[in-house]
Order: sequence, then C-alpha cells, then structure tokens
Amino acid sequence: MSDPLRLGIAGLGTVGVGVVRIIRQQAALLEARTGRPISISAVSARSQGKDRGVNLSDYQWEDDPVAVAQRDDVDVFVELMGGEDGPAKAATEAALKAGKDVVTANKAMLAINGQVLAELAESKGRAIRYEAAVAGGIPVIKTLMEGLAGNEITRVMGVMNGSCNYILTRMENAGKTYQEIFAEADGLGYLEADPQLDVGGIDAAHKLAILSSIAFGTKVDFDGIQLEGIERISIEDIRAAADMGYKIKLLGVAQRTGRGLEQRMQPCLVPDTSPLAQLDGGTNMVVLEGDAVGQIVLRGAGAGEGPTASAVMADVCDIARGIRGPVFGQPATTLVRAKAALTQLPASYYLRMELVDKPGALAKIATVLGEAGVSIDRMRQYAHENTAAPVLIVTHKTTQSSLDAALANMENTRVMAGVPVALRIEEV
Ligand code: NAP
Ligand code: HSE
Repeated sequence: MSDPLRLGIAGLGTVGVGVVRIIRQQAALLEARTGRPISISAVSARSQGKDRGVNLSDYQWEDDPVAVAQRDDVDVFVELMGGEDGPAKAATEAALKAGKDVVTANKAMLAINGQVLAELAESKGRAIRYEAAVAGGIPVIKTLMEGLAGNEITRVMGVMNGSCNYILTRMENAGKTYQEIFAEADGLGYLEADPQLDVGGIDAAHKLAILSSIAFGTKVDFDGIQLEGIERISIEDIRAAADMGYKIKLLGVAQRTGRGLEQRMQPCLVPDTSPLAQLDGGTNMVVLEGDAVGQIVLRGAGAGEGPTASAVMADVCDIARGIRGPVFGQPATTLVRAKAALTQLPASYYLRMELVDKPGALAKIATVLGEAGVSIDRMRQYAHENTAAPVLIVTHKTTQSSLDAALANMENTRVMAGVPVALRIEEV
C-alpha cells in the first residue's frame, strides 16, 4: 500500500469541519482515486473545547497553528482560518519553510501576500493550492490554469460574492430597500463578520485579483482594482434597470487593454438575457474568455461547508497524486508587475436623474451630454405627481471621462433635483 498523505488542519470552522467530514466519510473513494490513503495527523483552532459536530478524537490537538505546520507527521498544511496575515500567513510560511505543501481557502491572504508566498513556495519546491479561495465549489482555478492553458485569456468576469448577489436579487424580488435586505442577510448569517468585506466589494475583489494574476501572468495586484461596493444601489435603480432590460450585479472584470491591465469590481448593468443576469441568490458565476476557446461560463455554489470543502479536497487529491505546479500558473519570478489601466474601456452608461419639471429641462440635459460628446441611445421619462420628473437615459458607448465631464456640468444647469446615478453597462 502507498504511504498515506498526512494532513494538518488549522481552522475548524465552516470549511475545516467540511474537510474533516469528507475525509472521514469518503476515505475509500479518496484512496481509490489518488492511490493512497488521506489521513489527518493534527488539528488546531482557537478553542479546543468547542463541539464542532465531528469526531476529532483521532487527531492530535495543537493550540498553535504554526506547531501543526511544523509537525514531522504532517505532509500538507491545510490553512482554513482566514485573515490576510496574522496566524494564517505565519503558519503558511512556517509550513513552506518546513518543506510542506499548503492548501488554503484564504483569498485575502493570497490577494495581499500571494507573490511573496508563491516565491517562498517555489524556492522550496512546494505547492500552494487554493481552489476554494475563488468562487467556492466552482473549479475555476483548475479551469483557468489547466483547461485553458493553451489560450491567451482575453477577459475574466464574474459575480463572485454570493452575499451581494443575494442582496441585489432579494431587493428586486421582495421590492425592499437595501437597508431592509442587508438587515435580513445579516440576520440569516449570510454576511462576513465584517460585512464591509462583502458589501464593500473587498471579498470579491480579492478573488478577482487572484484570477487576474493567473489569467494575465501578472503579480497579484489587489490595490490596482478599481473598487466600489453595492451600498449605493437603490430599489429605484433595480426597478429602473429592469424596465430598460437590465439587471444590476456586483461584477468583477479583468482585461488587458492598450492602456494596461483593467481590473474593476463595481455594480454594473448586464442585459437581462445574459447568463450573468439569470444568477439568483447566493450563487456565483465566472465567465472566462480565451482566444482559442471563446467563452466559458462556470456556475455554482460560491460558499458553504460542502462546496468549499469540495474544492479544498480537489487540491488535496492533486497533491496526493503528485500534481503540483507553480502557484499562479507560471513561475512566480516570471510574473510581471501589471501596468494598471487608469481609464476604463468605453461603455454604455445608465443614468437616472430627477429633473425639475419645467420647459427646457430635458433639452438642457441633452445639450450638456452632447457638449461632452456623450450620445443618447435611449431615454424615458416617467409619469410623476410631484415637481421632479424621473428620467432614465442609456447612452451610446462613451468614456468615463466624457461622462464625468457631463455629470459635472449637469450640476450647473439648475434643472437637477438631486444627484444623478450613473452605472456602467457591461457587454457580456
Ligand atoms: P470560520 O467558520 O470563521 O472558521 C475559522 C476557524 O479558524 C475557526 O475554527 C477558528 O477557531 C479558527 N481560528 C481563527 N483564528 C485562529 C487562530 N489564531 N488559531 C487557530 N485557529 C484559529 O471560517 P470559515 O468560513 O470556515 O472560513 C475559513 C477560510 O475559508 C477563510 O479564509 C474564508 O475566507 C475561506 N472561505 C470560506 C468560505 C465559506 O463558505 N465559509 C468560502 C470560501 C472561502 P474557533 O472555531 O475555535 O473559533
Ligand atoms: N462572503 C463570501 C460570499 C463567502 O458571500 O461569497 C465566500 O467567499
């Protein structure tokens, strides 16, 4: 019989317990598929006494995750604690220095410290595998790194935060405000301990930064992402967008442009016939585009015990089979620093505004847009009972700077009642 692959697991929360369950329940299947038993030598979490709903009595307990990482009877350190540095990074570094492979679900750590960790791993001839870090149970890292290895990747796009997608779709379906649905999601335990990670777009941007590095051969660059969360999305915008044939999604996009690497995570409108628009609730979707393959759409559970543990185990199985490879798909020392595109590629925009209802108001807005070089594609004014008229405009493709110039000049027209809303429309 082949030697077992021996794991040390730090973190016994949602994901860690899911991993322990799979290893206990699927031992025969895992051995049949990898050719060797997969066992757990030691575990660690903050509180030893907590009932976690799984039997941990067969495993050695360590209070310190670094001690797990350095044990002689551990081949692979499985980091499932979270956090961009702190114990997660310290234990990951300790494991690599001790000659162990690492499997993690920690997107924050990789988005911020991925380059330094990848260089350390590769200098030691070890792997860091992280399928669970991006889009939970969806095998997007493997697809990008292996399945699409023969392609020049032209664009990576996706809805990668289930909590935000839940909030946006629930607002639409229930006709409730952002504040009401945020409170509901929080009450259901759908949000991170720090909800800003979700609704501020940070969690999704961590995931995009990782995908972007693999897709474009660049050093992972979280700070290069133009980032906006979903807090300013109102039920009025969701309804108005639907009326114009769109859904609003927190959408991540990474693509090479003539001006550099464009990476953005922001609320966008997508056509309601597109696959991304069909995504309801907490599900994730990643769209990958390659020069040879065209477009690939991956959809599935982006979070939760089973889906995330499934992705962790895919990495463990690869290591059991002896499959490793560079952390970001090519040697870390060959990854280049991306020149960030300071301007986005031109796009159509959705504008919603309230105009003072008097003769010539609409003409003034049309003039301001025209003077900034922004052309109107569609326009709609709604019936109203008060003195402000709700107006929606969809522009032809234009640049962000032309649009910003028009929005600035609108303030001087004296026909605006309130601040206009502008959202990018993404072609998918
Ligand atoms: P969680 O439920 O909060 O569990 C975290 C675990 O880490 C707990 O067992 C905790 O111990 C332990 N821990 C925290 N600090 C520690 C320390 N200093 N020393 C030892 N143990 C420590 O988190 P999770 O949801 O399982 O997430 C784990 C990782 O997976 C994170 O990186 C997260 O971003 C990622 N992830 C999660 C999901 C998901 O659906 N949950 C999806 C994709 C990726 P105690 O239990 O004793 O407090
Ligand atoms: N908070 C994340 C989400 C969990 O809602 O998608 C999975 O990364």
